Amino acid sequence: VIDITSLYGRTGCFTYDPGFTSTASCESKITYIDGDKGILLYRGYPIDELAEHTTFLETAYLLLYGELPTKVQYDAFKLRITRHTMLHEQMNRFFSGFRRDAHPMAIMVGVVGALSAFYHDSIDIRDPWQREMASIRMIAKMPTIAAMAYKYSIGQPFVYPKNELDYSANFMRMCFAVPCEEYEIDPVLTRAMRRIFILHADHEQNASTSTVRLAGSSGANPFACISAGIACLWGPAHGGANEAALMMLEEIGSVSRIEEYVRRAKDKDDPFRLMGFGHRVYKNYDPRAKIMQKTCHEVLAAVGHQDDPILKVAMELEKIALSDEYFIEKKLYPNIDFYSGITLKALASPPTCFTVLFALARTVGWIAQWKEMIEDPSQRIGRPRQLYTGATERAFVPMDDRH
Ligand code: ACO
Repeated sequence: VIDITSLYGRTGCFTYDPGFTSTASCESKITYIDGDKGILLYRGYPIDELAEHTTFLETAYLLLYGELPTKVQYDAFKLRITRHTMLHEQMNRFFSGFRRDAHPMAIMVGVVGALSAFYHDSIDIRDPWQREMASIRMIAKMPTIAAMAYKYSIGQPFVYPKNELDYSANFMRMCFAVPCEEYEIDPVLTRAMRRIFILHADHEQNASTSTVRLAGSSGANPFACISAGIACLWGPAHGGANEAALMMLEEIGSVSRIEEYVRRAKDKDDPFRLMGFGHRVYKNYDPRAKIMQKTCHEVLAAVGHQDDPILKVAMELEKIALSDEYFIEKKLYPNIDFYSGITLKALASPPTCFTVLFALARTVGWIAQWKEMIEDPSQRIGRPRQLYTGATERAFVPMDDRH
């Protein structure tokens, strides 16, 4: 707590909390985390049960509306989503404005932001119907946009949505189907993708969700807010960590080099960190990482890569780090990103698309959090204060007199 009397000439206090380690920015009924015990609940339901027993749209419904849907509610929700999976044909041409080698996350930031230029009936946030339309449109169109960003990056024609497929299967088909060839849905891989989506769907006030809320607090339209969230998620300390974790494991390459990297991670003069380790809130094993580890084994077995040397490196690295004094003392455990990179690679996703998948899934959480904020009557614009440490007032010096 900082006394601001000397700073602003009036009595009062600010809390100064860089990184918001102990500042709650809002009230929320959506997601609960107990970081010490490694517990994650969506609307009160444990993440492992949702990942095992629900479809992604069931979990999406839960996050958005607060309750698991009945069969009738679920079918109606699914129908509403599938009606909006297509992008406006004019938007499809938007993609060709990007450089061929653009990062798919850069494309996502642009295309999602541009949705507000196409769907004028979903941007007046004071209107509940428009808010609902924006939510449905975002959840419906994200797989299409993500798959298009990927297809564009590899120079293949876009594959349009096939609405009779389930959310994850439809997404995989849009990514991996090629013209003139049958695309076969693999139930093990589709289940893995569904789980990955559910695990990433929400995580209370993380950096990208807080970004969405802050952008939304000014009354900005939901597409612009989600685009801001995507930009934030891209960073390597947040959603970009799965790509970074896989790159690190590949760089380590063999079990014999693990000790060297663990030593580097502990060295305060070396900026290197073990990617996929540590978390601001979890001071225990990230419950999502456990499910991801299990999913990773299932996927690798399904694609015949159970002896993948990178998986061996990951498992051994986890073992070594978890028995190391440094990691024990700092409570650094694997987070969701540690095994997700290996899993996604086995699912045929290129590393540049890992964060795209994360953004697709997290869109549900972003939308649920944005709606919760907008519908809260006590909502005000987010406006953090600062602790000013610059010069005090001084006289202006004309350029010719400056030395
Ligand atoms: N490897 C080595 N040391 C680490 C690591 C790591 N992965 N993570 C944290 N530490 C150390 C820090 O050096 C620091 O040590 P110090 O107290 O001696 O200075 C201490 O642990 C605390 O670290 P902070 O950076 O202060 O913790 P913070 O809560 O700010 O950061 C973060 C959390 C960003 C996740 C961090 O652990 C990290 O950089 N991990 C690697 C990146 C990663 O995996 N990100 C994914 C997060 S999950 C997600 O976004 C889905």
